[in-house]
Amino acid sequence: METVVSGIRSTGKLHLGNYYGAIRNFVQMQHEHNCYFFIADLHSLTTHPTPEDLYTNVRQVVVEYLAAGIDPDVATIYIQSDVPEVAELYLYLNMNAYLGELERATSFKDKVRANPDNINAGLLTYPVLMAADILLHRATKVPVGKDQEQHLEMTRTFANRFNRMYKTEYFAEPHAFSFGKNLIKIPGLDGKGKMGKSEGEANAVYLSDSPETIRKKVMRAVTDSGPTTPNQQKPEAIQNLFTLMEAVSSPDTLKHFDDLYNACEIRYGDFKKQLAEDMVAATEPVRAHIHEISNDNDYISKVIHQGNEKARESARKTIADVREIIGFRKF
Ligand code: TYM
Repeated sequence: METVVSGIRSTGKLHLGNYYGAIRNFVQMQHEHNCYFFIADLHSLTTHPTPEDLYTNVRQVVVEYLAAGIDPDVATIYIQSDVPEVAELYLYLNMNAYLGELERATSFKDKVRANPDNINAGLLTYPVLMAADILLHRATKVPVGKDQEQHLEMTRTFANRFNRMYKTEYFAEPHAFSFGKNLIKIPGLDGKGKMGKSEGEANAVYLSDSPETIRKKVMRAVTDSGPTTPNQQKPEAIQNLFTLMEAVSSPDTLKHFDDLYNACEIRYGDFKKQLAEDMVAATEPVRAHIHEISNDNDYISKVIHQGNEKARESARKTIADVREIIGFRKF
């Protein structure tokens, strides 16, 4: 049995990328491993949400986690800010995180490019807080999508540096994990890049979207005028739709449309209709649960109290060990 940690920023509704990249893997692991899944509300502060938005978003993510199949009786679900020990570990790790390596992180460079007016220290040290989340429970497996791979590499660097500095083997190396052999990258509907919360409403399919909304979004997805040469390479926008189909549809369906594409006989209207229906079906069980759970305040607060307690127990133990290793002594 290994310890597993993963988290999702509380910046709003969950989309298919979050589901296939992280949550689905996590749900499959919860019965075999010691699993912690948390809502990264401290991380979300880099974008300065209002107090009302912060609360509403955290609640929404809790509801959607549960609806997606995380079982609070076997896994520990908690809210990052309810476990203040993480901030302490973050501080210790920050002392040995170097400006150069933080500035080179792809996520940081992307954020700087996208929001040149909000380059705060929290953004720079975002990977350190993420390392603290993982090392706080001394996890070895971290179910995440492809976009988090570099953060896991940095986590290993920080863990090894701590071990070297204090001549200990306290932290084991955590690795990004996916059940398939490769980490997943779910593309968006706009023809370029990944599905994400910051790429606009129409680009992402949310777990809470109604079937009508999903159909509308998919039918509007970017395509082209169609293939002209048999077996030609698919342009990015078309490949992205095939990658989405690979996630939500059966292998037979995927093969059917792939064969049509390769024979230059594909009709994008039919292709998108099928993709939309398979997305509706794939998200249906989650959608149904979202409404049910969202109305049950008592259940939500019971789950969170129980999770927070379990997470703090593990966190307190690590922090006590780390303080001892660093050399803090009681007077
Ligand atoms: P976040 O909130 O951006 O995304 C949460 C999880 O969803 C995955 N994901 C995707 N996977 C595949 N295709 C996509 N298009 C896609 N979009 C998102 C992400 O890889 C991630 O697994 N830094 C993290 C949150 C975090 C965390 C942690 C994760 C904080 N501390 C500790 C693991 C361990 C983040 O911003 O994820």
